[in-house]
Amino acid sequence: MSTALHLDLNDRALLRDQLLIGGEWVDGAAGARDDVTDPATGGLVGQVAAGTRADARRAIELADAAQRDWGRTPAKTRSRILRAWHDLIVEHVDDLAILLTAEQGKPLAESRGEILYGATFIEWYAEEAKRAYGEVIPSPADGRRLLTLRKPIGVVAAITPWNFPMAMIARKAAPALAAGCTIVIKPAPTTPLSALALGELAQRAGVPAGVLSIVCGPAEEVGGELAESPLVRKITFTGSTPVGKLLMTQAAQTVKRVSLELGGNAPFIVFDDADLDVAVRGAIDSKFRNAGQTCVCANRILVQDGIHDAFVERFAAATAALQVGNGFDDGVEQGPLIDDRALAKVRDHIEDAVTHGASVVVGGDAHELGGTFFQPTVLTGATPAMRIAVDETFGPVAPVFRFTTEEEAVELANATESGLAAYFCTQDLGRAWRVGEALEFGVVGVNTGLISYEGAPFGGVKQSGLGREGSRHGLDDFLEISYLCIDGLGV
Ligand code: SIN
Repeated sequence: MSTALHLDLNDRALLRDQLLIGGEWVDGAAGARDDVTDPATGGLVGQVAAGTRADARRAIELADAAQRDWGRTPAKTRSRILRAWHDLIVEHVDDLAILLTAEQGKPLAESRGEILYGATFIEWYAEEAKRAYGEVIPSPADGRRLLTLRKPIGVVAAITPWNFPMAMIARKAAPALAAGCTIVIKPAPTTPLSALALGELAQRAGVPAGVLSIVCGPAEEVGGELAESPLVRKITFTGSTPVGKLLMTQAAQTVKRVSLELGGNAPFIVFDDADLDVAVRGAIDSKFRNAGQTCVCANRILVQDGIHDAFVERFAAATAALQVGNGFDDGVEQGPLIDDRALAKVRDHIEDAVTHGASVVVGGDAHELGGTFFQPTVLTGATPAMRIAVDETFGPVAPVFRFTTEEEAVELANATESGLAAYFCTQDLGRAWRVGEALEFGVVGVNTGLISYEGAPFGGVKQSGLGREGSRHGLDDFLEISYLCIDGLGV
């Protein structure tokens, strides 16, 4: 690999630059390569093989060929392989974190956190592999027995995003492999290195050839083949709502199972009775993790009249204190945005909000570091008429809306086509139940801004998606129920 940025890895073999197809590292059929750049400097990190439709087709065919054996491999063996993969990831966390920060930009500590978080899904599903139970159904007749088997759905295609280049792969690949499915992964073109390193470790863990392939490359080519191939039985995607809708349409032609984890527009509600420290901490965690580039980031901060000014003062001070810089530098809490397009969207949302009457309390402009660094920003006076209220900013901008009653807060919070995550802060137990039940979101955090955990179901309602990742429910998305009716038993 022509590496412009020196990456100080203990294990250089984790730096892969080819596609992993059928257990072999290969160049793409067209011989093309894509640059991987460091969002903090714009410098070249390396170049990676760009796959084509033909490469994706070959990976799918080899996954299909491997499917029968992998599906029949005893659950306990699959479990051991997953466990070995988990252990190798944890062992190499420092190297994996360096690769992740180099291509994605998030602070090294956050990258480490993501690797360990992703690894927990592999650990979880190593265990769940052994629990894909069927059932015996009470018989309606003598000599007849009814039961269900839960079988792997077949070849899975996973299309994963750049904001969590490691964890979103682990969250899809682990339940797929645990269920006995083979998988072809297309990582985001901006962040292929984390994916390829995971592939290297999967091979070392003993994942058989063809069971897990990784095909980097353009969406129209690689993604198109994955979505259209009749051999692929399920597609699982994390990314934008428009792309999710397109994949759903493509998948309809071959009636694939579809799991989608799409955009959010999370409200973060602070009621008058909230603990101010908890509310400020929660809002900072939820808003500024990964520079605001997560689907579960607070997009709208709704604050009740009585606590509004005190909250804004404390929240603005905490926001202003955030350290912005290169993710490799000590103490940095917010890295760059992923690219110029992301920066332009942030600017556009602020400009639109200010034009419609919002005030900038902190930040509001590009950071002095230049490039795609942006100042952590707090706006007040936000209203539902602003673009920032309806569209996910995916950047470090916290617009504060003011409300008076609980009913108004719930109505404002639910006034979106998205339904992924929502948060609220209250010390009133009755309100915690009422509001928790009234919010139309797949994931709700009460008195916290951090809700992700491998044992809990993650996923959205409305246009935020279909299916759940993590928890025991996450395995169901990769299994088919097969009903077996046995007659003539003479009992
Ligand atoms: C996401 O933003 O898509 C995932 C965030 C998480 O798992 O915490």
